[in-house]
Amino acid sequence: MYTRRLAPHFLSFPHTTMQNFDYQNPTRILFGQGSIAKLAKAVPANARVLLLYGGGSVLKNGTLDEVKAALATAGIGHVSEFSGIEPNPTFETLMRAVQQVKAEQIDFLLAVGGGSVIDGTKFVAAAAALPEGEDPWNILLTGGRVVKSALPFGSVLTLPATGSEMNNGGVITKAATHDKLPFSSRCTYPQFSVLDPTKTFTLPKRQVANGVVDAFVHITEQYLTYPANARVQDRFAEGLLRTLVEIGQDAVNKPEDYDTRANLMWTATLALNGLIGAGVPQDWATHMIGHELTALHGIDHARTLAVVLPAVMQVRREEKRAKLLQYAERVWDIRDGSEDARIEQAIERTRAFFESLEVPTRLSAYQLDATAIDPLVAQLEKHGMVKLGEKQDINLETSRHILQAAL
Ligand code: NZQ
Ligand code: ZN
Repeated sequence: MYTRRLAPHFLSFPHTTMQNFDYQNPTRILFGQGSIAKLAKAVPANARVLLLYGGGSVLKNGTLDEVKAALATAGIGHVSEFSGIEPNPTFETLMRAVQQVKAEQIDFLLAVGGGSVIDGTKFVAAAAALPEGEDPWNILLTGGRVVKSALPFGSVLTLPATGSEMNNGGVITKAATHDKLPFSSRCTYPQFSVLDPTKTFTLPKRQVANGVVDAFVHITEQYLTYPANARVQDRFAEGLLRTLVEIGQDAVNKPEDYDTRANLMWTATLALNGLIGAGVPQDWATHMIGHELTALHGIDHARTLAVVLPAVMQVRREEKRAKLLQYAERVWDIRDGSEDARIEQAIERTRAFFESLEVPTRLSAYQLDATAIDPLVAQLEKHGMVKLGEKQDINLETSRHILQAAL
């Protein structure tokens, strides 16, 4: 009520004041080598547990065995498994897990994997607790508003990227219709997440590069907007961005460098656990446009962002001018030249950073040309993504310009 009454005032001076916020993050983080053993204390002793995982990486690298050993130490009686959660997890697959949860009277979920497995687990936790008769797809159609409760769950993270291990969001795809939609709810924070950097050692280079880019863009979505006099959020964001620039190459090229992987893991978590986004305007247009590229063309999530972000910076340079200049100076040490030249350099440095990780920044790298744009814009319209950006003024025409700039 109070904020609504003040809204017109703030709207006329959107750049001057930190926004009110209500921030609580309940996820316990168990960080470091050997932390999987701590599952024995984190999972409730009498739980009926379902382990959820993906296509088998956690079987091959021994992570699942380690998890099972920890649960056995705790004397947990019922532990069953659900495998096959795919990258960009699908509603169709996850509904089979919901059936299993109900059939086996599971009361605790444990995700073992990357963002897709954790997101999928959040959906299963929420869908299994929906009232009888509620269509689970409504979780996505309402962005999570129909979720009033969820099964408790934890995670063991194997891919630093999404921040899903310490936030309440998930992104689920209906394969049949190519709908990739986000949801979030106060009920879908993990109770705990185990972050053991050694569990990332088996990641393919491509997935590590994806992780660096995804975390980078999570930060820019909450930072590259307009000034809100949020000094510490800005400084945190800049510190996280600079850290990613510093460690990016080593993260990709030195798979068993514990310190680098530890820094990547914690940076990616802090990039999207709500901390740097509290009290500041947020954009998310890059993500929403990127989701359509994944849904229609199967491009990895982070790779869509590497294509869209430079184009968003280019097309939105006037709206984002002040923050782009701050970004140029504080992240890239660009201090010389006209304002426009500094912004141009900052965009180029961003592009070069992604390319240096072998993550392309043009649609043409995926054999997509101008004919791809109409269907993408139509998908945005279908999904109600018609007012994107920090000021909700990225309409379908602007999204079209962004996609054109990304060709
Ligand atoms: O399926 P398995 O066999 O486990 O293999 C996976 C998968 O093929 C593999 N992998 C994971 N850990 C590994 C490993 N391979 C070897 N060693 C390991 N330690 O990596 C592949 C990709 O995994 P995935 O979980 O799909 O990647 P990521 O963590 O990047 O997650 C992407 C998903 O998260 C969503 C995306 O939209 C996408 O669906 N996002 C979720 C967010 C959130 N919840 O806050 C925010 C993000 O913006 C993002 O949208
Ligand atoms: Zn992302």
